[in-house]
Amino acid sequence: MQIQFSDAVPADLRVVGHVVSKDTMPAGLEPAITEGAEAARFKGRPGQLFEAFVTRDGKLLRLALSGAGDATGDDRSANLEKAGATLTAKYLCSGETALAVDFSGSGLTAEQAAAVLLGLRLRSWRHDIYRTKLADEKKVSLVKAVAVNAPEGTEAAWAVNDAIAQGVEFTRMLVAEPANKVFPVSFVELCQEKFAGTGAQLTVLDEDEMAKLGMGALLGVGQGSRQPSRLLAIRWNNGPKGGKPTVFVGKGVTFDTGGISLKPGAGMEDMKWDMGGAGAVAGAMLSIVKRKAAANVIGVVGLVENMPDGNAQRPGDVVTSMSGQTIEVINTDAEGRLVLCDALHWAQEEYDPAQIVDFATLTGAMIISLGHEHGGLFANDDKLADQLLGAGKGSGDKLWRMPLGPAYDKLIDSPIADIKNVGPRYAGSITAAQFLQRFIRKGTPWAHCDIAGMVWADKPGATWDKGATGYGVRLIDRFVSDNLEG
Ligand code: BES
Ligand code: MN
Ligand code: ZN
Repeated sequence: MQIQFSDAVPADLRVVGHVVSKDTMPAGLEPAITEGAEAARFKGRPGQLFEAFVTRDGKLLRLALSGAGDATGDDRSANLEKAGATLTAKYLCSGETALAVDFSGSGLTAEQAAAVLLGLRLRSWRHDIYRTKLADEKKVSLVKAVAVNAPEGTEAAWAVNDAIAQGVEFTRMLVAEPANKVFPVSFVELCQEKFAGTGAQLTVLDEDEMAKLGMGALLGVGQGSRQPSRLLAIRWNNGPKGGKPTVFVGKGVTFDTGGISLKPGAGMEDMKWDMGGAGAVAGAMLSIVKRKAAANVIGVVGLVENMPDGNAQRPGDVVTSMSGQTIEVINTDAEGRLVLCDALHWAQEEYDPAQIVDFATLTGAMIISLGHEHGGLFANDDKLADQLLGAGKGSGDKLWRMPLGPAYDKLIDSPIADIKNVGPRYAGSITAAQFLQRFIRKGTPWAHCDIAGMVWADKPGATWDKGATGYGVRLIDRFVSDNLEG
């Protein structure tokens, strides 16, 4: 959806929305609206919407009030996003092609108005390219929103949010596309297209190069697939000269069958989104690059497909990771950590990061623990953990901290190799994190975000429809803007 700015409602528009905080009805509206809203018990609650048809200058208009809740409080910007998103949800397939949001007398700041616009924009994203027989009333009609009389500075604030929206949309596309469309090589190509001309530098390693580097763990996962594995790095060096970069690493399993430890059939199609960590990292890099963030940031994604095949690795195989540590592969379905351990090690060797944060749809156990409300955060450094928790709260991509410790670490000792890739049934998300920690250099602040419950939604949320959420992009972007810039 396109966002435009104007100082009057364009004559050809029929929908005019107002953002209404609790108990603050905009002045000068027709009784059909003010009295109608009261009759309909419209209170300006977040997500609440009231619509009335009015005639102005002989023209019929659809006037909508969208609730934004209390005028103060921690939830303010989330509520404003929701007010925008609620307008979009209402008119997305209404037949209307554009709507106006009239900010006159709203009392909002530029940042707050831009939050409304971000909600509007994010809620408009759909991935309908394969639905060739959609009925007209189910097709997206809304393609434009015009911000009318937005507070001074809104356009500049929107430019930042526009970059964020582009990142979220890129991630959602990567996550939503099926695995016969997005596989390691095509993931790289899609990034090459997206980042062309942006000033970001892309580095791609193919299987031969990874073999030379000794990435036996990552390559072992991909060896049962016809799709060759890749490692992709996206570099953005716009911070202090010579400053160490912050590296974000993503799990990019473009499809996870479980391998020889095959998953059950029911629901296996979900595993097309097992590249959600890589998707989040790529989308966040796009946001960061598009808004020209003043920071040194690198995104690294390990891209593989986990398939059963005559050449697939077997339970019990021992592989040697790039770090030199040997791994007993007890369960070929615990593949994400095998991909990440080589990606993490390579990223540390290659870029000597100031800190490193990984994102992965790593364990089903994470969904059992935290459901779909929080990603799980594991960290060896309290400051980094707090910064990520703060960015989560501020952006709406929430995290909850989980423990690490030597007693958990012991659970993944192997009798025949340095480490095994699964522990006991209990504490499954924690032992997965302990596995990754063994590949972090001493003294490097590291955090791991297990986002298995967050990248896909079975029902619409605040700023997303059901499907790919784009979780992680706003978290990473906010972490960068709050802690690495200026
Ligand atoms: N990609 C899955 C984790 C997952 C499961 C994400 C369901 C989202 C929804 C991961 O590769 C996996 O299979 N993990 C196993 C680990 C187990 C074998 C120790 C799991 O969670 O069952
Ligand atoms: Mn798996
Ligand atoms: Zn997986």
